[in-house]
Order: sequence, then structure tokens, then C-alpha cells
Amino acid sequence: MSDHIKLYIPGPIEVSADTFAAMSAPMIGHRTKDFQNLYASIQPHLRTAFGTTQPVYLCTSSAWGIMEGAVRNLVAKKVLNCCCGAFSDKWYDVSLNCGKEAVALKVEWGQPITPELVDAALSAGGFDAMTIVHNETSTGVLNPLGDIAKLVKSKYPDVLIITDTVSSFTTVPTPMDEWGVDVMLLGTQKALALPPGLAVFSASTAAMERAATISNRGYYFDFIEFQKNGENDMTPSTPAISLIYGLRHRMEKIMAEGLENRFARHAALNALTAEWVNSHQLGFLAPEGYRSKSLTCVKNTREIDVAQLVSTLKKDHKIAIDGGYGKLKGKTFRISNMGDETVASMTTVLTALDDVMTKI
Ligand SMILES: Cc1ncc(COP(=O)(O)O)c(C=O)c1O
Repeated sequence: MSDHIKLYIPGPIEVSADTFAAMSAPMIGHRTKDFQNLYASIQPHLRTAFGTTQPVYLCTSSAWGIMEGAVRNLVAKKVLNCCCGAFSDKWYDVSLNCGKEAVALKVEWGQPITPELVDAALSAGGFDAMTIVHNETSTGVLNPLGDIAKLVKSKYPDVLIITDTVSSFTTVPTPMDEWGVDVMLLGTQKALALPPGLAVFSASTAAMERAATISNRGYYFDFIEFQKNGENDMTPSTPAISLIYGLRHRMEKIMAEGLENRFARHAALNALTAEWVNSHQLGFLAPEGYRSKSLTCVKNTREIDVAQLVSTLKKDHKIAIDGGYGKLKGKTFRISNMGDETVASMTTVLTALDDVMTKI
């Protein structure tokens, strides 16, 4: 396909031909045994990848559906929204828009949320939930979620931890039960390398117990509806069945690769990008120790014309990278290594970038 632009933007990412082929399986009714079999066949893989013994639910929406749904279902008193970039900042606005009492714990874009900051914020008291984005895709920051969850569970056991793993799921470990995370959610178009349109999530017993006490949960994102239908290997409403076929295929591939191998591959490909950044005397927006393993947010320390870089790369090499999110436009650019990338495919984008750097 000569007009195919290969995506190295941090989502949606490149979808493989075999994934599209898996999605073209014949349509089935969503209240049939065939659907129940499809749904049930993915559960073991999803539970392994989530690191949970709880059911994993499939919601036909983008990630925001469940990000908003989690706030609606679980916040009775007050929520702490940890804000360190575009997606986590917006979660605070969404909490307010849902009519919830919310407090923003804000750090500068590019900085991580630390257990100490969370402790200081929660010590004010009155919170029953918190939201945190594990891998803030807009800034390339990987927050220390395991350490934060440990702190919260030991000092603030009533606070439910709602976590977005949209761009970290299966790229680094996210052992939901071991960490004590109450809701873990993601959308399919990033780390899972599926087209957009499906959100996948799991909820702890405590989260489901809380949801059952909350009134006005609505219908489409009602956690109790997902639980009731999930017991029958079904979804509350007609799901994106083609995406679910694709999800089955992706999860089978992920399990065949092995989670540990997958983590190692993402780390190695991310290190390759970091080498390229260093060799061009560019910087990283995130500090050492808090850098995403699934994408690189390059700090434009050389005042490169980023818009020109992105457009020349697309025109001359048919490759798309991102020119910086929101207020970081031009000051950063982002290169994804999520999905099925290999040393060869990452070398292709980095070599193409070398070429473009000599032209602009
Ligand atoms: C970390 C993170 N959270 C949330 C979202 C929102 O996802 P969506 O637009 O698919 O709802 C994105 C991506 O856009 C993201 O990268």
C-alpha cells in the first residue's frame, strides 16, 4: 500500500494485517452461545495480563467512557485526581463535570506523581477514591504506581485506587491484585495495538461493593451491569464484536510472546530510542527513573522546527510521529515503541529521523 503512513505516534498505533484479518470473522449475535464462547475464551488471558483473579469487562467506548464511569460509580465523598499531563489533568475536570467533589494534586508536566505527594494530599482527609494515570502519554512519564498503591493501601484503606493503564498495559508489569489497585482500565488503540473503540477494565471486590451503594450510576457505564452480564459471559449492550475478535487475537499473540519477553522487548526498543536521543544531543521531558517504556517524549533542546520534522518525515518516509501534545507542541516530539515493533522497525524510524534532521 503506497499511501500507507506507518504510525509511530503514541496512539492509535499501527495495527497489523493479521489483526485486521482476525477482526473480519463473520458476525454473530451478542446474545448467543457463540458470543459467550468468544467472551469466555479471552478471560483467562486478560486476567493473566491484568494480574487479577477478578473478571475483566469489555466496554464499547474509548478509555474515557470507563474513566468517567469509574468516577460516577465509585466516588461518594471526595476524589483526589493526580494531575501530571493532559489526560490526568482532564480526569480532574471530568470529576467536577460529574458533579463530584474533587481535589487536584498537580505537578508540572513532565514531572512524576510520587508516594510522598499522594500521602501529603490524602492526609487532608475525607477522600474515598483517587485517580492516577500510570503512563502519562502526553509527557512520557511513568508514575511509580506500585509504590503509590502500597502507600495508599497501608495508610488510607478506604481510598479506592482508579488507574489508567492505557499506554502501559503489557509493556511494563501492572499486577493489579498484588498492588491493590481497585480499578484498572485501558483503551485498545495504544499498547494493545488494536483499532480504537473498546475499553477494557477490571474492578476489585471493594470497588464493586462501593458501586452497589451509589445511586444514579446511569446504565451504559454502570459497573454492576457489567458484573451481572459478565457472569453470563456477556456485555450489557451490543458490543463491538469485530474488536472483540481482534482482542482475542491480540491476547493470544501476547500470551505466545510471554509477558516477561514483551516487557523486555519494550524496554530494549525504548532504550534504542533513548540512544538516538542522546546521540543527537536532545533531551527527555521526564526525569531519569520515571521515563515511559512504551514511548519517548523528546525534549526539543536544540530548537528544531518540530512541525517541519514531522511533516518531512511523513512526506519523505511515510512515517508519522507526534509533534508534541497541547502546550508541549513544538517543545517536544513523541516516538512510540508500543505494539509489534522490533529492532528493525525502530531502526527504520530512527534512521529516517537521521535523514530528516540533515534536511531541515
Ligand atoms: C494515558 C491515556 N489516558 C486516556 C486516554 C484517552 O483515551 P481515549 O481518547 O481513547 O478515550 C489516552 C489517549 O488518548 C491516554 O494516552
